[in-house]
Amino acid sequence: MKASQNGHCNTPPSLVPPETVLMLSKSDGLVASKSRHTFTALFFLLLLLVSIFFFSKRVLEPSVSIYRDASIQPTLSLEEYAVPVATLDPLADPQLNEDFSRQSIAPIPEFLSRTEPKNESASVKDGNSNGESGSGVDAGLSIETNLSRKKVPKMCDFYRGTWVKDNEYPLYEPNACPYVDEAYNCQGNGRPDLEYTKWRWKPEGCDLPRFNATDFLERLRGRRLMLVGDSMNRNQFESILCILREGLSDKSRMYEAHGHKITKGRGYFLFKFKDYDCSVEFVRSHFLVREGTRVNAKGNSNPTLSIDKIDKTAGRWKRADILVFNTGHWWTHGKTARGKNYYKEGDFLYPRFDPIEAYKRAMKTWGKWIDQNINPAKKLVFYRGYSSAHFRGGDWDSGGTCNGETQPILSGAFLDNYPPKMKIVEEVLRDMRVPVILLNVSRMTNFRKDGHPSIYGKIRMAGKKVSTRRQDCSHWCLPGVPDAWNELIYSNLILQQMAKASHRSKPH
Ligand SMILES: *[C@@H]1O[C@H](CO)[C@@H](O)[C@H](O)[C@H]1NC(C)=O
Ligand SMILES: *[C@@H]1O[C@H](CO)[C@@H](O)[C@H](O)[C@H]1NC(C)=O
Ligand SMILES: *[C@@H]1O[C@H](CO)[C@@H](O)[C@H](O)[C@H]1NC(C)=O
Ligand SMILES: *[C@@H]1O[C@H](CO)[C@@H](O)[C@H](O)[C@H]1NC(C)=O
Repeated sequence: MKASQNGHCNTPPSLVPPETVLMLSKSDGLVASKSRHTFTALFFLLLLLVSIFFFSKRVLEPSVSIYRDASIQPTLSLEEYAVPVATLDPLADPQLNEDFSRQSIAPIPEFLSRTEPKNESASVKDGNSNGESGSGVDAGLSIETNLSRKKVPKMCDFYRGTWVKDNEYPLYEPNACPYVDEAYNCQGNGRPDLEYTKWRWKPEGCDLPRFNATDFLERLRGRRLMLVGDSMNRNQFESILCILREGLSDKSRMYEAHGHKITKGRGYFLFKFKDYDCSVEFVRSHFLVREGTRVNAKGNSNPTLSIDKIDKTAGRWKRADILVFNTGHWWTHGKTARGKNYYKEGDFLYPRFDPIEAYKRAMKTWGKWIDQNINPAKKLVFYRGYSSAHFRGGDWDSGGTCNGETQPILSGAFLDNYPPKMKIVEEVLRDMRVPVILLNVSRMTNFRKDGHPSIYGKIRMAGKKVSTRRQDCSHWCLPGVPDAWNELIYSNLILQQMAKASHRSKPH
């Protein structure tokens, strides 16, 4: 249905600015009322079909595979707050580490999600969602303009596709971008193989626009792009710094405003691009809602999470023009997963609380904040879906590995894993007033068991044996998979602009 709305396949709702919808309904007005009834009937029929499709898909969803993933709820037996990363890196401050797990929150099926709240006028468009996994193929946008066909020949679901070998990749030299921190600098840490850097994401029904860093910078001119989330988002943040850097003729014209070097210990970075008057920022927020502490009867202070309050960093979010959020991996371990004396609403501390329900409430708190504080006419909001982990033979904390993987998974049930938390995300996005573009990356990351740092998340000391005990099979080497997420942001910016252009060019 979403497709119907925006006209292009699965592009997130936001891609299509409200104007487009308007425009669609205008043209509908020209149609005789008879055909309008036909449209309406067709629409409901479609809605029914799509619902059936999704329902059956859900039921059939495979649950288990050798790779541990979201669908397997871990039985963590870690000590509290020994966050996975922390264990990986003894130097790390547990509070700063992120993720590792197998959760996912995924994207919202765009068409489904955006449709309901809006009205019929918008949905009629959906002439051809041909059951193809949710891509609304070739809908409104391309009807309005040919422009779209040139660059993105066929509107399609960006998130359903495969990885293809492409020797023009990676987008920047391994071990040459100064913004990749040690944890993701696999080549710098001694990873010997390079094949994993040479894949390009290819949607089924189209090609993404060829990546052009200079053009991306042009599109960001005068704007502030901000990534807000956990270390997976820091991973994506470093990637975007590196790919944009390639577009600069004078690379010294890009710098961190306060001279900070990127480390996991710091929660905020602001990079300026002088020649484009734009910035790219990272704000650490593991849960998007507010972390706190309480002192228990014994005088110890323990962490809490207020699922009804937005994170303290939210004041900063308002300054951005383009926002990219994520949260997910932190919800599966330690205190957060157990939910004992941890979740709060108002002043009430729940003795026990279900983490899934907590996740849902937190996402709603976030959605409400966005709806109240973001003007969709001026700003663009992305939510990046759950990124898959690939632990084999155990979990991140029990000897799971991904070492030695040099090729993606090319087939099998694992590819179809879609994390239960993503359904929550989809549900929350569906009910929001502000259209949020879901970067539905879960599936594309399912393929990439070869893309994780594994044992190459730390510099190997000469002569020292590398420990293979703790492996990072959650984050991604750079260059690598997060570069593709940023290409998706770039593609979405192009689509969005096309939608606007087509609206403008329409006679009134
Ligand atoms: C996201 O991708 C999954 C497949 O991995 C799909 O089942 C889901 O419907 C997609 N969501 C949206 C909003 O397109
Ligand atoms: C369509 O939107 C109008 C106002 O926005 C609302 O009053 C009406 O109930 C909606 N109709 C449907 C079918 O959602
Ligand atoms: C759209 O493309 C068709 C065929 O390629 C062409 O005949 C038509 O003039 C184009 N329309 C516009 C508005 O460019
Ligand atoms: C990349 O974009 C810039 C700025 O829009 C443009 O001048 C340049 O020709 C593009 N490069 C390619 C290879 O398309």
